[in-house]
Amino acid sequence: MTDLQGLDSFVERWRAPAGRHAAVAIAAITAAVAGVGLLVYSTGGTAFAWLNLMYLPIVLSAALFRIPGGIGAALLAGLVIGPFMPLYVPRGIPQPAANWMARTGFFLIIGAFTGMLFTWLTAQYDRLKKAHEELLQSHRQLRDTQMELIQAAKLESIGRLAAGVAHEVKNPLAVIQMGVDYLDTSLNAGPDVKEVLDEIDAAVKRADAVIKGLVNFSRSEALELIPADLNGILESALNLVRHELKTEHITLETRLDRSISAVAVDRNKIQQVFINLFMNAVQAMEGGGSLTVTTEQRKLSGEDLGRLSHGKQRFAAGDSAVVVEITDTGPGIPEDKLDKLFDPFFTTKPVGKGTGLGLSVSRTIIDHHDAVIAIRNREEGGALATILFKPNRGRNPL
Ligand SMILES: Nc1ncnc2c1ncn2[C@@H]1O[C@H](COP(=O)(O)OP(=O)(O)OP(=O)(O)O)[C@@H](O)[C@H]1O
Ligand SMILES: [Mg+2]
Repeated sequence: MTDLQGLDSFVERWRAPAGRHAAVAIAAITAAVAGVGLLVYSTGGTAFAWLNLMYLPIVLSAALFRIPGGIGAALLAGLVIGPFMPLYVPRGIPQPAANWMARTGFFLIIGAFTGMLFTWLTAQYDRLKKAHEELLQSHRQLRDTQMELIQAAKLESIGRLAAGVAHEVKNPLAVIQMGVDYLDTSLNAGPDVKEVLDEIDAAVKRADAVIKGLVNFSRSEALELIPADLNGILESALNLVRHELKTEHITLETRLDRSISAVAVDRNKIQQVFINLFMNAVQAMEGGGSLTVTTEQRKLSGEDLGRLSHGKQRFAAGDSAVVVEITDTGPGIPEDKLDKLFDPFFTTKPVGKGTGLGLSVSRTIIDHHDAVIAIRNREEGGALATILFKPNRGRNPL
């Protein structure tokens, strides 16, 4: 492998020398032609086999500089042997000048032919290299997609399991809740008993929230996709968390682009995603901070796509997308946790505070919209959630 890499960089450096490399190559070829000329002269002249050595610098020059290189070196070789070509040196017998012409002609043929050959070879090399890179790229894509499929299958089986468990647990929970309510109203209990009852009540509500989350997560009911204005959905989701923002001393900044295309969405589901993201931001900014919500429509760059950890194949560079960004000024997410965010039940919140289902449910919903969600840390601190939606095609006049 390392041998091949060495060969690769050698070929890269010398396949089309320029600048200093070109000067070195030309000097070496000229010296070689002159050297062979001297050798030919000192061994008796052009009638002997040493003359064939002249083809070496010609072929080398054609390899480096293609057809012009081959012809140039051939002419130079013809020039070098010209002065003593007609001479059979040891005996001083002149040779016909046509011989010189023929020799130079052969040099030219070989030079030009090898130049052509190398032009073709280099084109093939470039083509192969490009094909190889494309192959690597699609192999990477295939692997990513495979990982996503495995993940999806995993989620599906968890979903099915969860639906079963939720069903089994829901009814007993309802019985406990009713019991607590009954005891609370009918029992003329002292403060101690009341406290216990309140605790049971809170615990049942927590368990119920987890069950509801699970059911939401596993539910694969058909979505009702209707073209809608994301700005409106964001605003109504913000209205629902306004109270939390206020009590946590979080300032809100919105920059909503009113000219974005409509997007085909299930309004309730997407609102649920936005609320999950807002609540995560609120919970991350204990003691205050600022939440920024922006929308815009733009063409995606390679950099945009590079930031996606999944769903890359849904968009290509240059595609137009409606982009929603939700930024907070919280502590951000530890680097080693970034790839776990969307796992079901991944949470860093204390027991009873978070189920760890918010983001996995959100991602399932986003996936069903053929959209993509990504969360990363910002350089300035805090976390940034980005969602890319495909603009609704119905809106396109074409
Ligand atoms: N904006 C954020 N800043 C910092 N950490 C975040 C942010 N958003 C998510 N996280 C981390 O990702 C974890 C998972 O989030 P997720 O919404 O899936 O679950 P949760 O918020 O813990 O619980 P739930 O949403 O079910 O109440 C969170 O516990 C938190 O550690
Ligand atoms: Mg959450």
